[in-house]
Amino acid sequence: MIEKCLFPAAGYGTRFLPATKAMPKEMLPIVNKPLIQYGVEEALEAGCTTMAIVTGRGKRSIEDHFDISYELEHQIQGTDKEEYLKELRQVMRECTFSYTRQNKMLGLGHAILTGESLIGNEAFAVILADDLCVNNNRGVLSQMIELYKRYKCSIVAIEEVDPKEVDKYGIIAGDMIEENVYRVNFMEEKPKVDKAPSNLAVIGRYILTPDIFDILRVTKPGKKGEIQITDALMEQAKNGRVLAYKFEGMRYDCGSIDGFVKATNALYAKMQ
Ligand code: G1P
Repeated sequence: MIEKCLFPAAGYGTRFLPATKAMPKEMLPIVNKPLIQYGVEEALEAGCTTMAIVTGRGKRSIEDHFDISYELEHQIQGTDKEEYLKELRQVMRECTFSYTRQNKMLGLGHAILTGESLIGNEAFAVILADDLCVNNNRGVLSQMIELYKRYKCSIVAIEEVDPKEVDKYGIIAGDMIEENVYRVNFMEEKPKVDKAPSNLAVIGRYILTPDIFDILRVTKPGKKGEIQITDALMEQAKNGRVLAYKFEGMRYDCGSIDGFVKATNALYAKMQ
């Protein structure tokens, strides 16, 4: 029912320099798998089969990663190394990848609008690969799509954060309508710590209805002079068309060194 998942992947990853000087941050590995592949696997598990990736300059290796490397296939054919490619091969068999480039860094809202040509007029998912989500039973996107089937409106994933950290996130306020589900009536991008409406922070999983594109087209630059998806969602929220979902699972902020190391340790421990 939600067939396409958009991955904004044009950012520079400056927090990880020098590692990201010549390599996209989405290709940094957590143990032995690049961050973006975790996101793609989560989307596939949720039933998405088209991965729409908004890239930028210097991101070619993302496209190569999800394509066949004939030399490599030839090299490892019939060896025990084939095992390492099992998940990636499944992803490549079951998904279609499409790409477009964002050539100006005007914010997450702008990145999502850039992906419009890959999405068209249907509801879609968005994964920010920096936020790595792990759950034993159902992935976070899967949980959100189930909710979408019942409510047919935009949905953001949220978690409670330390009140001192609210200025790093989109923050929502809303009324609880069922366990772990809020109808959003206010949201603000990176509010000041003493002015935040709550400590419920949006993390990098969204389901968006396609009218978001028309809204984004007229959304003025907000925080940091960028076009913010939070501001566009606030327009939908005015009509009661946005839910916030407190998901089951663990999320690692792999856009920070601290979260990246925590994710690495946790996933390594899981492999043992
Ligand atoms: C973006 C969004 C923010 C959201 C966050 C989740 O911010 O603008 O609303 O809370 O992702 O990771 P960024 O991390 O790109 O600054």
